[in-house]
Amino acid sequence: MKKHGKLKKIVLAYSGGLDTTAAIPWLIERTGAEVVAMGVDVGQPEDLDAAVEKAFAAGASKAFFIDARDEFASGYVFPAIKANALYEGEYPLVSSLSRPLIAGKLAETAVAEGADAVAHGCTGKGNDQVRFETTLAALAPRLEVLAPARHWGFSRDETLKFSQQHGIPVEWETPPYSIDENLWGRAIECCALEDAWAEPMEDAFLLTADPFHAPDDSCTICLEFEKGLPVKIDGMPMGPQQIIRAVGKIAGKHGFGRIDMIENRTVGIKSREVYECPAALALIRAHKALESMVLTKAVSHLKAQIDTAWANMAYGGQWHTPLRKALDAFIGATQEQVTGTVRMRFYKGSMAVTGRKSPYSLYDEGIATYGAGDSFDHAAADGFLKILTMETRTLALKAEALGKGDGGSCDEVAHVAEQAS
Ligand code: ARG
Repeated sequence: MKKHGKLKKIVLAYSGGLDTTAAIPWLIERTGAEVVAMGVDVGQPEDLDAAVEKAFAAGASKAFFIDARDEFASGYVFPAIKANALYEGEYPLVSSLSRPLIAGKLAETAVAEGADAVAHGCTGKGNDQVRFETTLAALAPRLEVLAPARHWGFSRDETLKFSQQHGIPVEWETPPYSIDENLWGRAIECCALEDAWAEPMEDAFLLTADPFHAPDDSCTICLEFEKGLPVKIDGMPMGPQQIIRAVGKIAGKHGFGRIDMIENRTVGIKSREVYECPAALALIRAHKALESMVLTKAVSHLKAQIDTAWANMAYGGQWHTPLRKALDAFIGATQEQVTGTVRMRFYKGSMAVTGRKSPYSLYDEGIATYGAGDSFDHAAADGFLKILTMETRTLALKAEALGKGDGGSCDEVAHVAEQAS
């Protein structure tokens, strides 16, 4: 890292964890600048007053947390529900969604404090540095960005040693995992979990019960959505934070919401990730269930692709880009009719959708039924199939006329015909 002799004031994105605390004396020693520690409350369970004290003990000139829980819930998590956002089909973007918000607050604080640089505690191997720095580039393109953990090259033990040498109490740094938690769930990394074959120990989980020990009675709830967003549980209206927490509590109690996956990081590393995201997985599944009832086939199929693009966009830290605006515009247009109720049952690690209804439902029981009262015009299917199969029939007849198969399809037909005779 180059010398930053001219810097007077640095605002550091502070979590209260080991790395960002060690970053305080490290930055002061390296630059001689004053360090302001700014944290953001996105619903993490940590004692934030104690974190502020730690920052002061480590040498910060100012330390505070900004309460952004409402903004996180409505501005970041709710759009993710509309987008059914699961990176690689599994990870509901717990950390990914919070970083553009935190980096945005960092940029705002730097302006308010008249700082000439900002810093974050991300390492060079992770995704979070990408999310921080792309957001900062978009919102504060002239601001100098320092990434001490990317440059100091400390192992965890060395960071502990460095911290101790600088009078930072490290007793609180005993948990065996690296955790990142917010309103949307909990990411658990490091230590024993780095062995991709090792089963996670029960002590890794805090939000979800071990399904084996979950209650013997199931729990059924009705979740109401309005324009793609959850608004009521069993008829009770709730705000964004409250509904996320309530669904998370119920699902977690029944052992639903654990994820164990190998994830492709932006930098090209595969990492073993363990998450517990009871609220996220339940809400996204319910939202999808309602969408399946009200969206047309074409919109539904294209939206699945747009949803994947949205998850990749959020994972890759492209929050403040024209891409997100364009994806949100498509998704927004699809949510007008996503209003209705989904019934879901939790039981020993599972969640099942057991019913759905909507004033905009395109499901017509009279057409779908195999029973009495069927209103489907079966005769119309004759003509429909004549036209639908025309191309396939033409191909088969042509192959027959040429006296040979055209590769795959005719050989396959011959094989099937032989088996069927
Ligand atoms: N792999 C996840 C992501 O990139 C979780 C990262 C958790 N971050 C952390 N600093 N522990 O979004």
